[in-house]
Amino acid sequence: MDQKNFFLDGQTALVTGGASGIGLSTVRMLSSVGAHVIIADTNKELGHYLSEKFKSEGKKVGYIYCDISSEASISELGKKLIRKKKSIEILMHFAGIGLEKKFVSTSLDDWNKIISVNLTGSFLMTKEIAKLMIPHKYGRIVTMSSVAGLRGGTGRAAYGASKGGVIALSKVLAIELSPYNITVNTLCPGAIETELVKKMHDKETRRAFLQNIPQKRYGFPEEVASAALFFTLPGSSYVNGTVFPIDGGFNSSGIIKNEAS
Ligand SMILES: NC(=O)c1ccc[n+]([C@@H]2O[C@H](COP(=O)([O-])OP(=O)(O)OC[C@H]3O[C@@H](n4cnc5c(N)ncnc54)[C@H](O)[C@@H]3O)[C@@H](O)[C@H]2O)c1
Repeated sequence: MDQKNFFLDGQTALVTGGASGIGLSTVRMLSSVGAHVIIADTNKELGHYLSEKFKSEGKKVGYIYCDISSEASISELGKKLIRKKKSIEILMHFAGIGLEKKFVSTSLDDWNKIISVNLTGSFLMTKEIAKLMIPHKYGRIVTMSSVAGLRGGTGRAAYGASKGGVIALSKVLAIELSPYNITVNTLCPGAIETELVKKMHDKETRRAFLQNIPQKRYGFPEEVASAALFFTLPGSSYVNGTVFPIDGGFNSSGIIKNEAS
């Protein structure tokens, strides 16, 4: 077995949303297996702080400001990467925002905001980075959906539509980028303990989720990062176009009896 298939030395990974939650755990994981990581996030303060902190631990982690809902901001990021002569081997596109609001109360502003960050942001960012990957004929792109993109859930009209859109978009990318040796896979986390979930899940949402998760607990960002890492490895070269739940069994479950009691 070639050990090189399991390390990322010499590769550069761009992690959008890398200043918090799942993105931050992924930055930690990628840098610990040798990748040079660039955090792209709107949170300048955290981005700069984290970059310095990782550097003080001997890790290669930088920060570039980017608002993924803005074409100009993404284009500026692309120009910066070209100026730095950075080839990007890995894109982990995880930046996103949440909303739990009943369909009839969802305003057009709510809808547009969620779609512009979660779906249009995925379109713009994957396009910008794919253009940098194509000449090198190598790339690993991981996009971020959610179980809300697979299944209906109360209050997830805009959020679920945005995440369902990410799945459809990613499947097309997986086909169109295949000739350039670029794979595209999509993660569908369930309920994961992050800042986003603190804001999005009230007591009743937590109760409803826990009732339907076979593992009877929320997941942790590291558990999503570990799965994400797999898709970036050179050895996962034949894994393409998949939609991968990381949800304690939520997506596969029907009725759940409490066998332990
Ligand atoms: N936490 C969960 O249960 C869960 C479940 C399924 C999917 N997800 C998805 O995982 C991703 C990460 O979520 P998280 O839970 O780690 O949230 P989080 O709030 O902890 O982190 C999100 C990060 O994205 C950044 N961000 C937000 N808008 C941005 C923008 N316009 N441009 C650039 N950066 C921006 C934030 O500054 C933050 O650092 C999101 O796409 C979310 O929808 C989360």
